[in-house]
Amino acid sequence: MKQYLLSALVLLCLLTHRPLAQTRNDTAMDRFIDSLMRRMTLDEKIGQLNLPVSGDIVTGQASSSDIAGKVRQGKVGGLFNIRGLDKIRAIQEVAVKESRLGIPLLFGMDVIHGYNTIFPIPLGLTASWDMALVEQSARIAATEATAEGICWNFSPMADISRDPRWGRVSEGCGEDPLLGSEVTRALVRGYQGKDLSRNNTMMATVKHFALYGASEAGLDYNTTDMSRIRMFNEYMPPYKAAVEEGVGSVMSSFNEVDGIPATGNRWLLTDVLRKMWGFKGMTVSDYTSINEMTNHGMGDLKTVSALALNAGLDMDMVGEGFLNTLKASLKDGSVKAARIDEACRRILVAKYRLGLFSDPFRYCDPVRSRNEVFSQAHRDISRRIAAESFVLLRNRGGILPLRKGGTIALVGPLADNAENMPGTWSVAADHGRSVTVLAGLKSALGQQGRVITARGSNLDYDSLFEQRAGMFGKSLRHDPRPSSELIREAVETAMKADVVVAAVGESAEMSGESSSRSDISIPKAQQDLLKALLATGKPVVMVLFTGRPLAMKWEDENVPAILNVWFPGTEAGHALADVLFGDVNPSGKLPSTFPQNLGQVPLYYNQKMSGRPPAENNWFQKFAKNYLDVTNDPLYPFGYGLSYTSFAYGEPVVSTISPKGNQQLTLTVDVSNTGARAGKEVVQLYIRDRVGRVTRPVKELKAFRKISLEAGERKSVRFDITPEDLKFYDNELKYDWEPGEFDIMVGGNSRDVKKVTVNWSK
Ligand code: BGC
Repeated sequence: MKQYLLSALVLLCLLTHRPLAQTRNDTAMDRFIDSLMRRMTLDEKIGQLNLPVSGDIVTGQASSSDIAGKVRQGKVGGLFNIRGLDKIRAIQEVAVKESRLGIPLLFGMDVIHGYNTIFPIPLGLTASWDMALVEQSARIAATEATAEGICWNFSPMADISRDPRWGRVSEGCGEDPLLGSEVTRALVRGYQGKDLSRNNTMMATVKHFALYGASEAGLDYNTTDMSRIRMFNEYMPPYKAAVEEGVGSVMSSFNEVDGIPATGNRWLLTDVLRKMWGFKGMTVSDYTSINEMTNHGMGDLKTVSALALNAGLDMDMVGEGFLNTLKASLKDGSVKAARIDEACRRILVAKYRLGLFSDPFRYCDPVRSRNEVFSQAHRDISRRIAAESFVLLRNRGGILPLRKGGTIALVGPLADNAENMPGTWSVAADHGRSVTVLAGLKSALGQQGRVITARGSNLDYDSLFEQRAGMFGKSLRHDPRPSSELIREAVETAMKADVVVAAVGESAEMSGESSSRSDISIPKAQQDLLKALLATGKPVVMVLFTGRPLAMKWEDENVPAILNVWFPGTEAGHALADVLFGDVNPSGKLPSTFPQNLGQVPLYYNQKMSGRPPAENNWFQKFAKNYLDVTNDPLYPFGYGLSYTSFAYGEPVVSTISPKGNQQLTLTVDVSNTGARAGKEVVQLYIRDRVGRVTRPVKELKAFRKISLEAGERKSVRFDITPEDLKFYDNELKYDWEPGEFDIMVGGNSRDVKKVTVNWSK
């Protein structure tokens, strides 16, 4: 009773700070936190640094769950990946009513591409090259998540990756630092809005800091090693962009950076993040990444926990190394009280800025939960964004769009499966509610045509692999019939149709965390299906589901139409029907290079010049940079994607070919829609710095614009270029530009460009 009274008193005292909490006056906040921290014991401070797993909290039993005991004792700063407003409210009540100081908890979640209404996987969102839509997807994700108690998001993932073997390319923004930075910024803006304390905005976390996407051999959790010059020019920009955009938290990565795991890397977490970039928010480890430093060979739990804290890491996800060892480390002097205070303060500041001290339940809103989560309005936007993310890779003979009529044979393991449509990381989705390809086609056709279906194949011949690739309730439901029977049925179905749509590729969990592949082709069972379908002589449209670039040279050469839909989210089937039937003209462009074969990996457009460049026509030349058995060309270059219409580029015109100093250079280019229907084109601008003190890439994306053109319409697209666009880090990490010759290139992808050369003097 006494304890309850005390907590009530403290709560009252916290609530009296409401007006202070609501102002964005930092002095008021500091005073509030100073006063709170004066009352905190060392244990309570360390408790704030703890982000344990919640386990499965059963609805109605939150206060009797194991975790509730720890919350009561003030040993928990936040919890994550709990879905359910009631559960969150109940455990928050324990925190504010039953713990000594009544400090509210942070509730985090991996809201990676939508909360309950799911959008395309981040790689797909990136392929839209439409930052307004990317931001809108994040805005909706935050609106839904915050209605159900979540105020802290473990997104965006800003890890540049050039290795499609790595499963997590699906969660990121592709291979390019500029595009990646723009997407990262848009996501941070969408989640956080302008005011974090509003009840429909959430704190974003940029992750995984740093270089997680560069793990050797594309093997998740493997070693990372790279030069600083590459790091700063090519891998750091998206994280930095998030910091500039005001991201509230940063998650350290599992991998090492320069020989020290990121989670214990002071250079990274303090020198770069805080001193160089001025980050003011809180840092959190990845899932047990503190403990894992023991496996990295950095010492026992006490040692690695101290290492992390001293490096600048504030919150310990899952491992409880901080909770269990920091007191001892303080005693023997391996950590300082001031550093514990600093970490604790950063977490309290986040809570304050989120408005949790003024109303710990501000993110638990049953009315909003009922009206806003999975609303028709959100689903409509998801459908629109999904269609914008699709990339038309091939369309021989203009098979697409399909006419709404006749008979369509829909085959393939992904043709009638709802669970896989959201793709990886969809913690709070109800997978079964996604629109299947079959349902989408049927509803678009109505009475105008017929869809007949056959399974065609399983995901793969290897059923163990199938199990591994069907986790988290996202099974493709193995069909026990022999594969010959599945193919026979599919061929029979195809023979009755005017056109065949084959929904094939990866399952949702073939990409994502811990989903590295050593073979990035379409599984053999599905290739065999495609071959059999092609042999019928019917026109075949391949609808490709994938979370990564794939090696599909055979498919490219043999299948007349290929539409890459990534994992489109909740509205998959509808969005697909919109594009297949031409109600929406596809306009996505690849954010990552598709190689011809796996041996070319890593293959990316912004590579460095070699002293022995390949021959102009890319044919083999002895002693040049080329393979004996494959050209250096990608299958589909970065920035590539077709449309149902065609675009023509005029010659780029610059305001001057000899700009000086900080002068702004203007480049204009006429882009015409030369086809018969309206369409959108992503106009891309690349620059090559021809001579430098350090070697420079063959080209770098510097700007892009997505424009709409009616049939026959021509638009003049203008880019303003300044020396800011020419800057790079040299080998001493000096960031500047150098005068000289620059090729400025424009085009609809990174390969097919028109160029103008300027000489820029200082
Ligand atoms: C992942 C993170 C994620 C965290 C919490 C980790 O395994 O690497 O991206 O945010 O789990 O779910």
